[in-house]
Amino acid sequence: MKNIYEAKFLKEFCSVAANMYRLGWDERNGGNISYLLEEEEVKEYLNLNHIFRTMPFMGWNETAFDASPIAGKIFLVTGTGKYFKNVKDDPETNLGIIRIAKNGKNMELLWGFKDGGRPTSEFPAHMMSHMARLGVDPENRVVMHCHPTYTLAMNYVHELDEAKFTHTLWQMSTECIVVFPDGVGVLPWMVCGTREIGEATAKKMEEYRLVVWGMHGIYGAGKTLDETFGLIETVEKAAQVYMLTAHLPRINTITDAQLKELATCFGVTPRAGIFTQEDKKR
Ligand code: 13P
Ligand code: ZN
Repeated sequence: MKNIYEAKFLKEFCSVAANMYRLGWDERNGGNISYLLEEEEVKEYLNLNHIFRTMPFMGWNETAFDASPIAGKIFLVTGTGKYFKNVKDDPETNLGIIRIAKNGKNMELLWGFKDGGRPTSEFPAHMMSHMARLGVDPENRVVMHCHPTYTLAMNYVHELDEAKFTHTLWQMSTECIVVFPDGVGVLPWMVCGTREIGEATAKKMEEYRLVVWGMHGIYGAGKTLDETFGLIETVEKAAQVYMLTAHLPRINTITDAQLKELATCFGVTPRAGIFTQEDKKR
């Protein structure tokens, strides 16, 4: 059996968590990541017949949800209450590798959570989002949630309307429409950690790879940790530019015609309905 600390998936996960912390996206235990692993790669490092614990999905205040469509799938996931700043130095306490049990109602711990921990309280939102994304993109592997500062700040001063929010972000940096032509879904403020927010997030994830949780943070989904990190990073950069300029007179802007030119040039299809926004100069 190879040493799991040499596994690319674990090294990459730790380094992405460290970067998220460094950027201020994950204060204290804020944020969570789940990464769908290939059974073939995991079995080089772990005995898949050795289950340390079997746990129900839900914490103290929730009812279960049905994860049978992803039964048998293995995820590397952050622990609830665990600090992102500690992930890199002690992955075995702060992270766990779990397999969705055959009944679609429990998870089997294969590695980690060594102090008795369990996966993030946002497990319903993560698993339901994985199911939704796999339905539209069988190569999706990652769901990432965090509290990036400027994206969160923007939630307080910008309308929480998907089309308007997306349009503003696209205008804030030339790269945006190329990186996320599918736009950003937006949910109103909701109680986090619940099955309800999980279901609402997954519904959005059928259409979007990025979902803002009003006045809470953001969810991203992608094929790799890098791609997902990059999506959130691009939104956060645009939100930063917005927050640095929203209170100033707008002299220049990227026009809708220019955004469309970019989309044509880079071969992406912008989400329908975004360009009905007035091309404001403010
Ligand atoms: P967890 O510590 O349970 O992952 O929760 C953090 C969070 O960001 C809740 O939305
Ligand atoms: Zn959160």
